[in-house]
Amino acid sequence: MGDDHPVIRQFAWTDYDDVVAVWKTAGRDVVPRAEVENKLTRDPELFLVAAGEPGITGVVMGTYDGRRGWIFRLAVDPSRRRQGIATQLVAELERRLLALGCPRVNLLVMPDNEAGLRFWQRLGYLPCPDVLCTKPLAPSSS
Ligand SMILES: CC(C)(COP(=O)(O)OP(=O)(O)OC[C@H]1O[C@@H](n2cnc3c(N)ncnc32)[C@H](O)[C@@H]1OP(=O)(O)O)[C@@H](O)C(=O)NCCC(=O)NCCS
Repeated sequence: MGDDHPVIRQFAWTDYDDVVAVWKTAGRDVVPRAEVENKLTRDPELFLVAAGEPGITGVVMGTYDGRRGWIFRLAVDPSRRRQGIATQLVAELERRLLALGCPRVNLLVMPDNEAGLRFWQRLGYLPCPDVLCTKPLAPSSS
């Protein structure tokens, strides 16, 4: 990692367009503004960005439901990968989750995302056999 490694800090609304650009260029679904507004009423300190030169290079959304932590929408700009940015983002998120008393963190990876799976396993996140079940409660929910 060079001297230009980014600062990991809490998301601010002025970051939104840059965060959307990172999600899009990384092929991740964009979280709409209304959902971000809802998220920021709960645990805003778990929505993190990597801020450096030039601008936002990575993003991760965490949540804590009082029993488990969850990690969503981790993405790093393709031109800034393999520089430890995602590792830094997740380390800071884990530190913040632990400070909240969170004992375990879960996340979902698409089965064909080999790079993602390798990344998570490198950080100690191991696959488990549970099957995700989901049901939309609103017509437009994603
Ligand atoms: C997965 C992702 C977030 C990794 O970001 P990153 O900043 O490049 O990751 P890091 O530099 O912190 O990587 C840490 C380690 O993870 C592993 N790793 C990361 N990317 C990898 C890849 N493409 N292939 C194999 N191993 C990989 C390596 O062990 C790496 O260490 P090394 O570079 O010293 O070999 C990034 O590739 C990305 O945004 N992908 C698209 C979105 C995505 O898949 N998100 C995660 C799934 S939920």
